[in-house]
Amino acid sequence: MKVLVVGSGGREHALVWSVARAGHTVYCAPGNAGISQVAECLDIEALDIPGLLSFARKGKVDLTVVGPEAPLVAGITDAFESRGLAIFGPSRSAARLEGDKAFAKELMQRYGIPTANFAVFEDMEKAENYVRNHKLPVVIKATGLAAGKGVTVARSFEEALNTLHDLMKIGKLGEAGKRVVIEEHLEGEEVSIIGLCDGKKLLFLSPSQDHKRLLDGDAGPNTGGMGAYAPVPIVNKAVFNQIIEEVFSPLLQALNKEGVEYRGAIYAGLMLTRDGPKVLEFNCRFGDPETQALVPLFPGDLAEACRQCALGDLTINLEPDLSGKHWALCVVAAARGYPGTYEKGLPISGNLTGGENTIVFHAGTKMVDEKVVTSGGRVLGVTGIGKTLSEARDRAYYGLGLIHFAGMHYRHDIGEKGLHYLNQRA
Ligand code: AMP
Ligand code: GLY
Repeated sequence: MKVLVVGSGGREHALVWSVARAGHTVYCAPGNAGISQVAECLDIEALDIPGLLSFARKGKVDLTVVGPEAPLVAGITDAFESRGLAIFGPSRSAARLEGDKAFAKELMQRYGIPTANFAVFEDMEKAENYVRNHKLPVVIKATGLAAGKGVTVARSFEEALNTLHDLMKIGKLGEAGKRVVIEEHLEGEEVSIIGLCDGKKLLFLSPSQDHKRLLDGDAGPNTGGMGAYAPVPIVNKAVFNQIIEEVFSPLLQALNKEGVEYRGAIYAGLMLTRDGPKVLEFNCRFGDPETQALVPLFPGDLAEACRQCALGDLTINLEPDLSGKHWALCVVAAARGYPGTYEKGLPISGNLTGGENTIVFHAGTKMVDEKVVTSGGRVLGVTGIGKTLSEARDRAYYGLGLIHFAGMHYRHDIGEKGLHYLNQRA
């Protein structure tokens, strides 16, 4: 089939790679330098819904797969479906699960889905009073989309009050931060569980673990994600079943009762606490960089699974591999200055083609005069695949070591928690 992937990051490169590998024709809007090696890149931005729609109609695209959240929250699925075009990704009202954190939290509360205790505020004074009586650390979240910049884990009252001031008074994140969720801080191990949903049934990908902080040992500021691996040893069969029973099953029932038909990827960011799994956030899409680790492990035709979900009739039935017959690990290389301001246009040299068990997924790259240059904060990610987690890690780091650009930096401890857990168990 003809598949259009919307987006331009590492996640989209991984999706494009998977669609092409299954023998489909792939287009990507707008794509990046790496994607242009496997797909026809279109000069259409991910948020240009009329432009995308027009291409899909004229180009007789069979399926559109949406990478980022913004077009989903803006209603790309409603626009495509109203013209009879198949698209993987939830409708605007279903995408509120990610686009409106207050909606997601209230839904979880109403239907008994475990999550951190919270309150929602629009009035800054009330928010300030609430925070003053809260124990530390306290977590403050903008309710709208904030491209990974909407969450503050405040360790002092001063930091918490400053955060409220920046969001609610100064409007640092615009409308997205005018309402806030204030919630208790959870302790535990974080995991990401992604299921593909046709409105009724779910097909789960392997559990994965992101590394959100910039620096080794989970230090430094939050980023969009500096690396990921899958599967996650701590998520054994019992934990996985508990997550399905306590989170995904009640979520599907909740959406159903609320009259929301959800067709697309449901991403649950979870904290495995002493009291069981609790939801940190839902996303309405594939994770980035989790997808760069998950896609090479997926044993079927991912595009076909997406098509079935889009049409509301998922028949592919695959169990995620929890025991780790194969492992994948992706390390992200970022530009100097990321997640703050960074330079662009720096030439990238070295082996960008990867190897048999190493895949180079581009994120912020573009082609200028037939040369690959940096064009984003997260520049690329190298995924290693192996029969053990350490083999996957060694391959990813070896592959990354063959690539260079000025100011390139990355974490050296991706997968460390998983390896530690495996060593303890041995
Ligand atoms: P998000 O942007 O919602 O993915 O949140 C960014 C990160 O903030 C998460 O990956 C967690 O590490 C952290 N976080 C969010 N909510 C909480 C919470 N209630 N307790 C502890 N950490 C949290
Ligand atoms: N990896 C986190 C996210 O995609 O939101």
